[in-house]
Amino acid sequence: MELEILLENFMLKNELSLPEKSIKAILTEIRTWIKPSVEGRGIIKTEKGDFTLLNPKYGEPYHSISAGAVGECLEKFLMPSGLLQRAERQKKISLLDVGFGLGYNVAVAIKKVRDINPKVEIEILSLEKELPEEVPPLPEEYEVIRKKLWNRLPQFEEDGISFKLLLGDARERIREVKNFSAHAVFHDAFSPYRNPELWSLEFLSHIKRLMGKDGVWVSYTSALSVRKALKMLGFKLSSTGSVGRKRGGTKAYLVGEDNMDEVESLRLERSPYALPFLDPTLKGDGIQILIDYRVRVELLKVAQGGLEPPTPRFSAGCSTN
Ligand SMILES: C[S@@+](CC[C@H](N)C(=O)[O-])C[C@H]1O[C@@H](n2cnc3c(N)ncnc32)[C@H](O)[C@@H]1O
Repeated sequence: MELEILLENFMLKNELSLPEKSIKAILTEIRTWIKPSVEGRGIIKTEKGDFTLLNPKYGEPYHSISAGAVGECLEKFLMPSGLLQRAERQKKISLLDVGFGLGYNVAVAIKKVRDINPKVEIEILSLEKELPEEVPPLPEEYEVIRKKLWNRLPQFEEDGISFKLLLGDARERIREVKNFSAHAVFHDAFSPYRNPELWSLEFLSHIKRLMGKDGVWVSYTSALSVRKALKMLGFKLSSTGSVGRKRGGTKAYLVGEDNMDEVESLRLERSPYALPFLDPTLKGDGIQILIDYRVRVELLKVAQGGLEPPTPRFSAGCSTN
């Protein structure tokens, strides 16, 4: 259905009204968010020379084209997660992998963790809605593990590695998981504004349920909606470094202090965009989640007299990564 009609129905159902100018702003912004970042489908070479896949449904590659597939796995996920340090001192590490995709994050993590400590036990639980039909190879050193994962889906236990993939909508499947205590969560859904289902307050609260007390959640995104949801769930936040042309990502943990620069902290405190995505039934349609979010943002803007608080970079609204 047309976005305009969906928005109109949403406003009627919730007995809301907004000026025409606001309605136009909402429509324009949502259209920008959901526009594909890349056209086409199939395998593509990244600027670092490795490969990833384009997903035509979400209009996004599985990995950063500028940072490279392995570069992203290492720098946005594995390094900031602290798993390598844990592998040095612990007998066992556990990883919750949200968005198995091509299996790259998992393969790179297994390889690197075992390089550090060949004996460490590894427990991995992955969530994935739909496996791709074709998967490009990883660079040689990771390829043995990637192939093993794919040949043995949906689960295997071997050589101290226990791997399990729960296939289906992660919002459904996560409810079945009871006894998992992740040391690290790699949250790698497509970008929040194209795949909002996996970035809501409610879904993130299920993730929190499956994290150990000193667990660390990492993702490539710095979106205010996601950071706000994490804050509301009691996490402390820090920014992770930027890789390629992407802005820095986010690390969230329950033990420790916030570590974000002043501008980022102020944006999170004051921007009208710093509201969480909501999906109370955990069954909401992506576009409905976005409409609900963007209308709440607009109501806040209108209540503030249309003026955004004078802190830097507010005019950018949200980053779409
Ligand atoms: C950026 S890709 C993940 C890349 C992957 N981590 C890798 O290293 O190859 C995002 C993944 O999230 C999955 N996804 C999106 N919505 C989902 C949902 N509701 N439930 C489970 N998986 C979902 C997509 O199918 C896609 O495979």
